[in-house]
Amino acid sequence: MHLLNRLVVASLPAVPRPVVRHFASRYIAGDSLDQALRCVRRLNAEEQVMATMDVLGEDITSRQEAESARRDSEEVLHAIARENLDSNLSIKLTSLGLKLEQGFCRENLRQILRVAAGHGNFVRIDMEDSSCTSDTIEIFHSLQPDHANCGIVLQAYLRRTEADVRELVKTRANVRLCKGIYKEPEEIAFQGRAEVQQNFLMLLRMLFEHECYVGIATHDSVLVDGASTMIRELGLERTAYEFQMLLGVRPELRRALVREGHRVRLYVPFGEHWYAYSLRRFKENPEVAGYVVRALLRPNV
Ligand code: FDA
Repeated sequence: MHLLNRLVVASLPAVPRPVVRHFASRYIAGDSLDQALRCVRRLNAEEQVMATMDVLGEDITSRQEAESARRDSEEVLHAIARENLDSNLSIKLTSLGLKLEQGFCRENLRQILRVAAGHGNFVRIDMEDSSCTSDTIEIFHSLQPDHANCGIVLQAYLRRTEADVRELVKTRANVRLCKGIYKEPEEIAFQGRAEVQQNFLMLLRMLFEHECYVGIATHDSVLVDGASTMIRELGLERTAYEFQMLLGVRPELRRALVREGHRVRLYVPFGEHWYAYSLRRFKENPEVAGYVVRALLRPNV
């Protein structure tokens, strides 16, 4: 990252929350479930785009908080069914107690999967930083035989992911493939943009060749073009994959994909804990972060 951008990003925590909130509103659907449902309804109806809803909040410290996060996710699944929306659920295992106790976290997830199955819906386990990778994959493996409505995320920047794919294709796992968003050391993660792109496309081909359903999660035109070419080359049905993007990022690209006949799903995060999520998005896009800091210098933002 450019030095100036690094400075801008580093100064973000000093920015008053209402200012951050103003700029974050493009990335989050709102504080409440009702606002998020409204956003999904609009995406389904006006853009023919599917959604995956995420209740924001990852840093929990007690079992009670994890259980409350579980109930929130269950409520989302009930609401999706009640409103007949085209959306599934994404969830972070740390919010369900991954760092407290693996077995407890697994049982929380199992309950959510049961509720989802009752509505014929699907749950995607987000992938967090590398301290969570092995435990997350282990929990997925242990639940997958009884819960076909569960999928996982793999990060193309991790060197281990090729080996993880080799294991996961054996059960034709449903995988969201993304670059990876956390800062990871060179020993375990590719650092160069081109290396990560190359690994992403190599992993995507492996997944497709083993007939795994893939959520191709990227806004990178190189990867979107590479994936589109691969889809054509392999003659894949449009039901064999979907493109996935984040709310608020490159809307013109998702519209172009829909026009070309691909299925697109948007990640729709919402909830009271919007702050940490928004900072991560700003770090990815220092240009927006720059607006936030400049806004500080202007009145009435
Ligand atoms: P890249 O970062 O190169 O972005 C390509 C272009 O998109 C940029 O040039 C810019 O124009 C635009 N862009 C990207 N981010 C932007 C932003 N914040 N604001 C405005 N424009 C922006 N990661 C993870 O570790 N675990 C996970 O579970 C997930 N889940 C997930 C779900 C979905 C649906 C998506 C799309 C992404 C994730 N990610 C994730 C995040 C992912 O790992 C990655 O960090 C981002 O998608 C950015 O990488 P791109 O491939 O989009 O390329």
